[in-house]
Amino acid sequence: MTGPFAGAGLWFGGDYNPEQWGPDTWAEDDKLMRLAGVTAATVGVFSWSSLEPEEGTYTFGWLDQTLDRLHAGGVRVVLATPTASPPPWFSFAHPDALPVTAHGTRLWHGSRDTYCAAAPAYRQAALRITEQLASRYADHPALAMWHVHNEYGSLCYCDHAAAGFRRWLRSRYDDRLDALNTAWNTAFWSQGYTSWDQIVPPRATQYLPNPSQTLDFSRFWSDELMAAYLEQRDLLCQGTPGVPITTNFMLPNDYQNLDLWRWGSEVDVVAVDHYLNATGRPGRADLAFAADQIRSFNRGRPWLLMEQAPSAVHLYDQGIAPAKEPGQMRSDSLGYVARGSDSVMFFQWRTGRGGAELHHSAMVPHAGPDTRVFREVTELGADVRRLAEVAGSTVRARVAVLSDVNSWWAMESRGMPSSRMRYLPALREVHAALWAAGVTTDFAHPEADLTRYGVVFAPSLYLLSDAGAASLERYVAGGGHLVVGCFSGVADETHAIRLGGYPGGLLNLLGLRVEEFHPLTEDRVVRLTTGATGTLWSEDLQTRGAEVLAAYVGGPLDGRPAVTRNRHGAGFGWYLSTRLDRAGLAGLVEQVLAAAGVGPELPGAPTDVEAIRRHADDGRSWLFLFNHGDLTHLVPASGIDLLSGHQVDGELALPSAAVAVLREH
Ligand code: GLA
Repeated sequence: MTGPFAGAGLWFGGDYNPEQWGPDTWAEDDKLMRLAGVTAATVGVFSWSSLEPEEGTYTFGWLDQTLDRLHAGGVRVVLATPTASPPPWFSFAHPDALPVTAHGTRLWHGSRDTYCAAAPAYRQAALRITEQLASRYADHPALAMWHVHNEYGSLCYCDHAAAGFRRWLRSRYDDRLDALNTAWNTAFWSQGYTSWDQIVPPRATQYLPNPSQTLDFSRFWSDELMAAYLEQRDLLCQGTPGVPITTNFMLPNDYQNLDLWRWGSEVDVVAVDHYLNATGRPGRADLAFAADQIRSFNRGRPWLLMEQAPSAVHLYDQGIAPAKEPGQMRSDSLGYVARGSDSVMFFQWRTGRGGAELHHSAMVPHAGPDTRVFREVTELGADVRRLAEVAGSTVRARVAVLSDVNSWWAMESRGMPSSRMRYLPALREVHAALWAAGVTTDFAHPEADLTRYGVVFAPSLYLLSDAGAASLERYVAGGGHLVVGCFSGVADETHAIRLGGYPGGLLNLLGLRVEEFHPLTEDRVVRLTTGATGTLWSEDLQTRGAEVLAAYVGGPLDGRPAVTRNRHGAGFGWYLSTRLDRAGLAGLVEQVLAAAGVGPELPGAPTDVEAIRRHADDGRSWLFLFNHGDLTHLVPASGIDLLSGHQVDGELALPSAAVAVLREH
C-alpha cells in the first residue's frame, strides 16, 4: 500500500470556508460533518484577506479555531496557502503585479487570480503568507496535507513575464541567441533577434505569430508557475517535513497551461478538480478519461479527487447550471475511486450566501440539511467508509494512450493545415473506444518506458522529440503494438517540420511516407474499403514496406492507402491517415487488441457494465462494477460486495444504475 493516505481509509469531505460564516453556523457545521462522515476538509483556499487584512497584519484567530474544531471532530485538514487571490491592498500596493492580457489590458482585482506569477512583489507576498501559515500550524495535529495555491494556470504577458521569459530562453538556448534564431526560424518575416531584450511574450500582433515563440512561451509559463509553486513547496517542506504537499490541477477541455507530466513529479500526490458536464455514458467516458490521466500523472499511485460538484455546476459557456440526477453523485464518486482515487471530495462544504459562486452546489445546500443532496452526501459518506480497505491499492493497465501537452500547444497554433484538428478530441475518441471495449487504459508520455504495455496508442503526436521518436522505435522493435494517428510525428521539439515526408519521426517504424495532407472541410467525408468513413483529415501516403489494411474509395485519394500496419523488429507500427468514425475506430481497436492479445478487464461483462479493478500488493483485488444501462444485467463475478455486504458466487445481478464493489476471492 502506497501514498500519503496509507492506513487512513478513503478521505471524504470538501473545501470548507468558515470565514464566510459565523459561530452559529460553525456549530452546525461540526454536527453535520459528523453526520455526513466527513474525514477531510480543505481550508483556507481563498482566505488571504481574512488572514492578512492589511499588509503584515495577521488575523489567525478564526483559522486557529477552525483547525481545533475540525481536529476535535476527527476531521483531517488539507491546509491551503491562499495565494490564488491576493487582497485588494495588494493590488493597490503593487499595481505592477496585476496581470496583463496579450492585448495589453491590465486586469484589476474584483474576481480571483488577479496577479502575475512572475511579478517579484507577488512572489514575495505569497511566500510571506505561506511562511506565516507554516510556522503557525507546523505542529497542529489536524494538519494532514498542504494544498499550495489553487488551480495554477492564469496567464500574463506583462513586462515581468517578458523578463522571466528572456531568462528562461537564455537557459534553454545556452545563452546563444543564434541558437534561438535557428530554433524559431526567425529568418521568416524578418524576425532575427540581435539582443535578448528584443524578445517579448507572444503579445497581440498584426498577423500570425511565430509558432516556435508561442510554444516556448507556453513551456516557459508552465515552468514559471511551477517555480512559484516550488518556492512555496520548499518553504513548507522545511517547516513541516513529512507533511505531504499538493496543489489541485484542472483538466479543462479546451486548453492546458501546465505540463502535467513535469508537475506530477513535483507533488507528493496528484490532486485534481473535476467538474463533469456530460451525463449518461458520455459523461462516464469523460470521467474515465480524466481519472485515467490523473492516475497516470501520479505515476499510477493513488491520487486525490480534491473537488467535484455535489450537484449543479455552472456551465458558463451554456449559461446554465443543471442539477445532477439522484444517484449520479454516488456513482460518479465511486467511479473516481474505481480508477485510483483515494478520496471523494467536493467544492464545497456549504453553498455560499453571496459572492461569485453563490449558486454553485455544495454538500450542504442553501435549503439546509433536510435536502436530497445532503441525504445523498450522508449516504455516500457511509459508502466511502465501507470501502476503506481499498485505500492504497492501484489500477493496472496493459494499454496506454500517449499524451504530451507540447504536441497540444504546437498543433493548436495558428497557421496549421486545419484548425478543425484539435488535440484533445483525438485522445478522447481513442480513449472512449477503449473504455467502450472494457479495456483499462493508462496515459503515458512518449519518452517513458512503455514496455509494460501490450498496445500503445498515439492518437495525436504532431510534435515528437528525438527522444520520443527513439522511445517509440524501441517499444515497437521490442515487440509492442504502436497505433499512430494522423498528423503525428510531423514537427520536432522546436516546432520545425521534419523534412523528407511525414511523419518524419516515424517513417521507418511505420514503413510509409506521407507526401501531402488533405484536410477535410466540414461537409466532406472520405470512404474506406472497409466500409468505415473518415472525417477532418486525410493524407496522400505511399507504403514502403507496410501492409495496407484499408484504402480510400473515390475522391482525389481513390485507391491510396488509408490504414496500414508495418512489421518492425518484434512488433508492429499501425497507422491511421484519417479520423475514423466511431464504428470504424472500434473495429480497429478490436483488431489491434486481438493482435496484441490484450483483453477487457472483465471478459464476458455486458456492454452496459463498466468494470475496473484495484489491486493491492498482497494479492487482494477489488472489482468495481457500474451498470450504465436501463436493464438489470448478469455479471460474471465473485466476492463480497463491500457496499451491500452480500456474497456473490459466480454471477451478480446488477440492476440499472447500480454500483457494486466486490472484494474478490
Ligand atoms: C474550481 C475552484 C473552486 C471553485 C470551483 C467551481 O475547481 O478550485 O474554487 O471555483 O472551481 O466549480
